[in-house]
Amino acid sequence: MRHLMSPLDLSVGELDNLLDLANDIENHPQKYAHACDGRKLATCFYEPSTRTRLSFEAAMLNLGGSVLGFSSADSSSAAKGESVSDTMRVISCYADIAAIRHPKEGAALVASQKSLIPVINAGDGGHQHPTQTLTDLLTIRTLKGRLDNITIGLCGDLKFGRTVHSLINALIRYSNVTFVLISPDELRVPDYIREDVLEKNDVPYEELERLELAMPKLDILYMTRVQKERFFNEEDYIRMKDFYILNKEKMELAKPDMLVLHPLPRVNEISVDVDDDPRAAYFKQAQYGVYVRMALILTLLKWKGDTTC
Ligand code: NCD
Repeated sequence: MRHLMSPLDLSVGELDNLLDLANDIENHPQKYAHACDGRKLATCFYEPSTRTRLSFEAAMLNLGGSVLGFSSADSSSAAKGESVSDTMRVISCYADIAAIRHPKEGAALVASQKSLIPVINAGDGGHQHPTQTLTDLLTIRTLKGRLDNITIGLCGDLKFGRTVHSLINALIRYSNVTFVLISPDELRVPDYIREDVLEKNDVPYEELERLELAMPKLDILYMTRVQKERFFNEEDYIRMKDFYILNKEKMELAKPDMLVLHPLPRVNEISVDVDDDPRAAYFKQAQYGVYVRMALILTLLKWKGDTTC
């Protein structure tokens, strides 16, 4: 039985197969409409979510399966003091696969250790968000045609943004990927990512504060929201929240085929006047999130390709 805690839990080969499967699902959805008949997905969300939870649920429904779960800690026995480990052990008796989101780093791992069913980390605090990374990789590979030979700018809250941490971990495995890390000093990427992931693997990167300076060299610009819920005090958040606003003028500095991605939700960091720019790919990215989660569910439930899981 396999769980997904980090994008590195999948080898590059397995990841390629998963992305191929996601593309096939996009092109031939009817082929997969009964692949999970009779199977259940539990979504255990201790933290707010729109896209991740609903795209997981849509993915399982598209596969013919059904869904159960809770969308806040208050509506689960966590409110009575139950541990995630006990909750997951019990949910293992009700479902065939589970996705868990929790505000504490490492909570998904703890949940997986006593689970009898595959557990997917749907975001653990400021740590990792592997299924967003699968979504990002599918979006880049489908719209750009490659995952290697790219210069990617990651902009915004690189300190608390778990999608950024997971994406860096995943992309360093492809050749000739250069990172431009664009953030205010206080929201720089954590040392463990800079030193243990980028420097240790000789991955080229630079750190900049001004988005304008980075724009002309980027193939992909990955914008992120300042993670309000992970700040220790409101004043710091207010000072940081509008540090970057991508607008039409800044888009003029970019390559004609640069892609703008964002895991969403957006707050102010991308002005709505960018939405009509053909390079804005963040809503398409949300759609790809469904295909890739369908592919992930099939992979973890060991779908054989002809019958139901
Ligand atoms: C992200 C998350 O939860 O980390 N959202 C998502 O899953 N699409 C990004 C964010 O909340 O800023």
